[in-house]
Parts: sequence; structure tokens; C-alpha cells
Amino acid sequence: MACANEIAVKNAKKIRAAVVGLGYWGPNLARNLHANQEYELVALCDQSEDRLKKLGALYPWAKTYTSADAMFKETPPELLVVATPVGSHKALTMAGLEASAHVLCEKPLAGSVAEVSEMLELAAKRDRRIFVDHTFIYTGAVRAIKKEIDAGRLGDLFYIDSVRINLGLFQPDVDVIWDLAPHDLSTLEYVLKSRVSSVQAIAQCNNPRGFSDVAYLHLEFETGLQAHLHLSWLSPVKVRRTIFSGTKSSLIFDDLEASEKVKIYDHGVSFDVTDLEQRKQVLVNYRRGDMHAPAINATEGLATELREIAAAIRGERADVATGEDGLAVVRTLEACKQSLAAGGTKVKISS
Ligand SMILES: NC(=O)c1ccc[n+]([C@@H]2O[C@H](COP(=O)([O-])OP(=O)(O)OC[C@H]3O[C@@H](n4cnc5c(N)ncnc54)[C@H](O)[C@@H]3O)[C@@H](O)[C@H]2O)c1
Repeated sequence: MACANEIAVKNAKKIRAAVVGLGYWGPNLARNLHANQEYELVALCDQSEDRLKKLGALYPWAKTYTSADAMFKETPPELLVVATPVGSHKALTMAGLEASAHVLCEKPLAGSVAEVSEMLELAAKRDRRIFVDHTFIYTGAVRAIKKEIDAGRLGDLFYIDSVRINLGLFQPDVDVIWDLAPHDLSTLEYVLKSRVSSVQAIAQCNNPRGFSDVAYLHLEFETGLQAHLHLSWLSPVKVRRTIFSGTKSSLIFDDLEASEKVKIYDHGVSFDVTDLEQRKQVLVNYRRGDMHAPAINATEGLATELREIAAAIRGERADVATGEDGLAVVRTLEACKQSLAAGGTKVKISS
């Protein structure tokens, strides 16, 4: 028997949604929109006839377009999902807002702070929402990490260290920092409830396209906490691991683990200072306790994300990544660019 909530969802007017960009990531968004009863997938758009034909066959009721302008004229959606390369995010988002749609745009929200600011201004003027696809913040693993930190179970954090490397897909219009760092930046700002306040970036370019393919970012948050990110498209093995080192316990997030993605170690050090004058008199106590892995909600991040976005569109309270969150990430990416140009110097970020 259907519960009251399911009946309410069935009876509510569906949100008419369209996806533009049906390459690698767009089909995942289309699949999740279709699976969610709160949406009706009304249109699909891609410049490539081949991709349009392939996806159109899966959702034959959705109208297909090779031009977003034609789609806005004939089948205007209430939610436009933009899953094209970053160079077209601003133009498509602005066109969607002009056509009175709310917009869920891929990360990074645009190619510069100035572009994102224009997008946010137009959204405010048109009374529409911009959401950014910071997919990780909707996953069970990241929500579990936030719960542990919020509950104080890690104590005060010493530092964070993240490795996101593999033989990556070389992107046509962005470097490894703009491609991969948004995942770490959005995750860390979400779980720490703090923005990045400065960055130092070092990178290498080993390809003829001229984009960095290996990078090391050193971040400082408003709280003073420091984090280090290692990003690479050139690693022969795939690693997706973040260490949160704390005074009470430490947490390791390994996104490649099938089920135990988050492990909390009751391991650590404490210091007994017997003579402050002579720092040699510091005793280091090592603690090696148990490890436990909290149960993780296995719901696909995109499914949770679309559910939350539907609630936000209906004006209900929702835990979503907003345009402002997208702007914060682009601010840090832009600061990385400045740091790289200045040989890795520290660049402060002011909001
Ligand atoms: N959230 C995530 O976890 C995640 C994962 C992968 C990619 N992404 C993001 O998704 C976006 C797309 O990445 P991708 O790897 O799918 O790229 P892709 O190159 O595989 O696909 C992009 C598609 O957009 C189409 N396109 C480009 N400009 C268009 C336009 N103006 N109108 C209509 N169609 C257009 C192309 O024909 C192509 O089919 C990027 O911003 C990327 O950062 C996010």
C-alpha cells in the first residue's frame, strides 16, 4: 500500500525537466530524472545527432533538439539541467533563466567569478534558482562524514589530505584543477561548514594541449584548518582517498571501497609536556584502538540530489548546493589560477 508521502508525490504536478548535454555525464542525470516521480523528462538536447538519437531511444516521449534555443521556444522546461563542458555553462544557464526555468548546472558552475556573478544576478532578477551539481555532497558517504564531524567524534581536526588521481579523461576546455578539484572543494566546504580562505597551487603540464594534468593544492579554511589536494590525470592507478586527522580519532574516506567507504580509526597521538622550557621533555603517547565503519546509505547521490532540488523548487526546506556554493568553488579555482601564474604563491580569497 502506498504511504501518504508517495500518494502526495504522485498527485503533485510534475516538474517538467530537460537535459542539455548528453555526453558522459548527462545520461546519468536523464536516467535519474526519469526514475524520479516528481519530474517529467520532456526534452533532450545535444549538438550531436548521434548522442541525441541514442538517448532519445531510451526516452521516446521526450522531444529531441540539436539547438537549446529551439528547445526553449517549443518545449520550455521548468528545470533545465546543463551537462555540457564548462565553456557553455554561462550561456546555456542564462538562456534557461531567460526562459523562466530553474537551472541545475554542472560543476564548475562557470569559467570565472565574473561569469558566475552575472548568472546569479540574472537568477535573482528572474526569481529563479540556480543549483550546482556538487554530486558528492548528496552521497551517503559524505553525509556520514559530516555527521561524524558535526557530532565532534573526530575532535579538533589537525589536517586533511586528499588524493584524487587516475588515468583521467583529458577535458577539452579545462585543466585537471578545474576538472577534479570541485569535487574536493565542494565536499570539504560542505562537511566543514567553512569556506576556503587561501590557496597555493603547483602544477605540471605533460601534454601538448597545454592544460595542467598533475596538480598539488594547499588550502587554508576560514577556521585555520589546512588541507592538501593531489590531483592527477596521469596516474596508472585510481585513488580516491581523503584522510581527516583529528585529536580524538581519524577518518579515512575511500570512495573506491564497495561498502566500507568511511572508516574511523581510534588511533592517534597525545603529548605530555613535562618541561616546557626544554621541549625535549615531551612524551608522545601513541593510541591504537578499534576501527569502525559506519553504515552508509547506498542511494545514488544524483537521486538524493534531484529529490532535494524538487523540494527546493516547491519552496520546502532542502539541503542543496546553491549558486552561492558554486561561486565559492569557482572563486577558489580562480585563486589557483592566480597562484600558478605567480609560481605557487599564497593567494587570499575574499568573499
Ligand atoms: N558531477 C560529476 O560527478 C561530473 C562527472 C563528470 C562530468 N561532470 C561535468 O559534466 C559536464 C560535461 O562533462 P562530460 O564529461 O559529460 O562532457 P562530454 O564532452 O562527454 O559531453 C558533453 C556533451 O555536451 C554536448 N554539447 C556541448 N555544447 C553544447 C551546446 N551548446 N548545446 C548542446 N549540446 C552541447 C556535446 O555534444 C556532448 O555530447 C562538465 O561540466 C563536467 O565537469 C560532472
